[in-house]
Amino acid sequence: MNQPKKYTVTAALPYANGPLHLGHLAGAYLPSDIYVRYLRQNNKDVAFICGSDEHGAAITLRAKKDGVSPQEIVDRYHKINKKAFEDFGIDFSIYHRTSAPDHHKMAQEFFTFLNEKEAFITQTTEQYYDEENNQFLADRYIIGECPKCQNPNAYGDQCENCGSALSPLELINPKSTISGNKPILKETSHWFLPMERHEEWLTSWMQEGKIHGKQLHNPKEWKNQVTGQVMSWINAGLKPRAMTRDLDWGVKVPVENGEGKVLYVWLDAPIGYISATKKWADENGKNWEDYWKVNPETGEADTKLVHFIGKDNIVFHAIIFPILLKERSDFVLPDNVPANEF
Ligand code: MF3
Ligand code: ZN
Repeated sequence: MNQPKKYTVTAALPYANGPLHLGHLAGAYLPSDIYVRYLRQNNKDVAFICGSDEHGAAITLRAKKDGVSPQEIVDRYHKINKKAFEDFGIDFSIYHRTSAPDHHKMAQEFFTFLNEKEAFITQTTEQYYDEENNQFLADRYIIGECPKCQNPNAYGDQCENCGSALSPLELINPKSTISGNKPILKETSHWFLPMERHEEWLTSWMQEGKIHGKQLHNPKEWKNQVTGQVMSWINAGLKPRAMTRDLDWGVKVPVENGEGKVLYVWLDAPIGYISATKKWADENGKNWEDYWKVNPETGEADTKLVHFIGKDNIVFHAIIFPILLKERSDFVLPDNVPANEF
């Protein structure tokens, strides 16, 4: 590998639905800050990227509970968390936010590009729907009895008592948290990423750091727990994964039949790294593409992309986002995905 000319270091975008806690800081932000200080001391050209993840059910749910709009929630916590990072002395190049119009535009362009090259498939599935409020229910909006430990208040995505990952259909006696009623099942169609198409290159990329024989990174530098988790997913067989949701808060799906749907967090938050880089670059007389794309003249990566994350986001950053970046073909893939647990 050539000596990189630039570094793009990202730290997972925290949800703007509550204040940061120490676990967050220790997991992703302190390690990334230390790495960036080291790079800057060595006069490297670094974009250190973070910001608020301002979409998703966690935020709309919080807004509903507090009786305010989602925008009010994210405005409040974006400000608080941005200030908290400053007070801790963590010096991001930019702390952007995913509710910014420039982010919506970038995420929609990304989606449209991939949709046009048929990187997605559409599938119709049955989802829980609240008839009283006329809305599909995000996993977090459904509670019911956990099939594993009988906790009566498990969420549609996870039981916080026993820690099992769940799907809403597994809950016993499901209830809508919005109306309290029993939801009905209703058909809806969504854009899915057919991850199984990518198993082959992902395997060699993960195990040898190579794609089609070309060395991209040194797999020995990756943490065992990251490689291990990724390989266990791949070995279990990847499946199509929904990239859109029926929600009204988020980045709108910008294509035909997309009404009432938004991009799911996988296609929204990580693109937030890119839109943040662009905003920072535009404001500082730089070109964001130098920090994300391969050099168009040589085809080589002159920039090194490193994602610092918490361990819950491994699959997200080491499988799904790399698939999306590779589908773009002129983007670099992460050189490393350091995940920490605290
Ligand atoms: N906000 C989400 C979480 O904290 C996703 C963070 S990772 C990113 O789990 F890619 F979205 F930034
Ligand atoms: Zn349980």
